[in-house]
Amino acid sequence: MRSPARYFPVVFVALGILLSSVITIAQQNPRDEEGHAWWQHAVFYEVYPRSFADSNGDGIGDLRGITSKLDYLHKLGVDAIWITPCFPSPQVDFGYDVSDYENIDPMYGTLADYDRLVKEAHKRHIRVILDFVVNHTSDQHKWFLDSKSSRTSAHRDWYIWRDGKGPDDPPNNWVSIFAGPAWKFDPTTGQYYYHYFYPEQPDLNWRNPSVESAMFDVTRFWYKRGTAGFRLDAVDILFEDEQLHDNAFIAGTDKFGRPNMDEKYNRRLPEVHTELQRLRKVADEYDAVLIGETWTPDVNELKAYYGEHNNELQLPMDLLLTSLPLSPQVLRDHIAVVDAAGGWPTYVITNHDIIRSYTRYGDGTHNDDIAKMMAAFYLTLRGTPIMYYGEEIGMANNDPKTKDEVKDPIGKVNWPMEKGRDGERTPMQWTPGANAGFTTGTPWLPVPASAQTHNVETEERDEASILNFYKKLLELRKKEPALREGDYIALNTADSNVLSYLRRYKTETVLIAVNMSTQKQQPSFDLSAQKLQKPQARTLLQNGATVPAGAFKTIALEPHGVYIGKIR
Ligand code: GLC
Ligand code: CA
Repeated sequence: MRSPARYFPVVFVALGILLSSVITIAQQNPRDEEGHAWWQHAVFYEVYPRSFADSNGDGIGDLRGITSKLDYLHKLGVDAIWITPCFPSPQVDFGYDVSDYENIDPMYGTLADYDRLVKEAHKRHIRVILDFVVNHTSDQHKWFLDSKSSRTSAHRDWYIWRDGKGPDDPPNNWVSIFAGPAWKFDPTTGQYYYHYFYPEQPDLNWRNPSVESAMFDVTRFWYKRGTAGFRLDAVDILFEDEQLHDNAFIAGTDKFGRPNMDEKYNRRLPEVHTELQRLRKVADEYDAVLIGETWTPDVNELKAYYGEHNNELQLPMDLLLTSLPLSPQVLRDHIAVVDAAGGWPTYVITNHDIIRSYTRYGDGTHNDDIAKMMAAFYLTLRGTPIMYYGEEIGMANNDPKTKDEVKDPIGKVNWPMEKGRDGERTPMQWTPGANAGFTTGTPWLPVPASAQTHNVETEERDEASILNFYKKLLELRKKEPALREGDYIALNTADSNVLSYLRRYKTETVLIAVNMSTQKQQPSFDLSAQKLQKPQARTLLQNGATVPAGAFKTIALEPHGVYIGKIR
């Protein structure tokens, strides 16, 4: 028998390797004085890979395309990119139907392309986040193919199979968010399976420990490749009531004209939180960040997603913000709740599922000013912002005009009530040239005429462009500790035209005032409560704003004007 002493060197070497990797991660991800982690200072940027940059002329963006634009992203000032699903997929829901979690779709490239993208991104201090579609797989995933093959197959219980109540009568009344019932009958085994989205997106059964461990391993696979975290897709619907109780109908109809349903039994079950805590533990092994697609009916519910001990999602997105009007009153109240939720706020004004902010907030006359105003607003709040590609150049929605043009299946199925999400997913506008410089081939979605004026090349040359305004804002966030670390203090809380607030950190104070009205405004500021008796302002960035020299009491703001200044 060998003596235990002979194992010592092995143990030491192993310990050494473990320690040094822990130290390396800690060195890569140091906390600042405030104990803030890298993701609390970062500006994230969502890339829709199909539409960002096409390197091989097939009309579809790809990973090499993204890599070729890293210098642009670096100069813009973003710190992390979130790439929406780029895994092998039949593309029924443009990648949100994953058929293999541990590979790259050939349309987008290879794992080697991914590794190179991560390496090149890191050289530019940009981290890469992937999109983890946790709720469902594609119906072409090998797990599901096995699951549906027989009632006794190894993966049968990886999905949610149930008997119907009778012929053509599904197990209960739950509906798919994309149209029709949430159950599909499969004749091979004579049972129904559950799908919250398209029938091609069967829901995983997270109550099965094998599903959980397989999915946790997926995250490890990507963490080991240098992935800095995940945006978790549709987290609130991970679990369903085991007894499959019917949901109650409530007043009103949804956007497809169906009666509204209170999704009590298939949404936001308490088990979601237990699972997020477990997913977070794995993320913590790699110091990774978890961002959540957290749609809540009430902003107060965001609080729950941080976890009681800040042990669930670091960054649950405040998506409700995207549904609010340009009203200082409404926004002030909303921000107050998010800011007080106890975690780190995560603001978003647009994404691949929502009409672009430029179009949504625009009034047709002051669109560019409004775009700058919205940027000045959400990029100076306390928290982490997540931008959407093209937002920084004022890209507009380009909705399909006829049903034939529609690519997004929800638009095809529900036309004309729902046009689908193609409009917010059109190619990134790089140049005023052919196809906005996105591809040398035929782009998968058409480029709008507005690409002539709203594109990177043209805007880079124009000092007053939306793009240059974003660049200056992102630079300010890096330079001004108050914008990164400072408290948020609402000012003039009765003003229904101008939203204003301070960001205060130690001896530093930054004042932000945005005019959300179409009239000139001249708000007065009394900062004596902040011990600033005769405040003087030094302008950091403005658009249509004037402040008197010396001690100031008021700031003059043009319609949709913006003022950001350092206060002493
Ligand atoms: C999320 C995605 C959306 C997708 C859906 C189903 O809501 O953002 O694009 O269609 O999940 O995966
Ligand atoms: Ca391509």
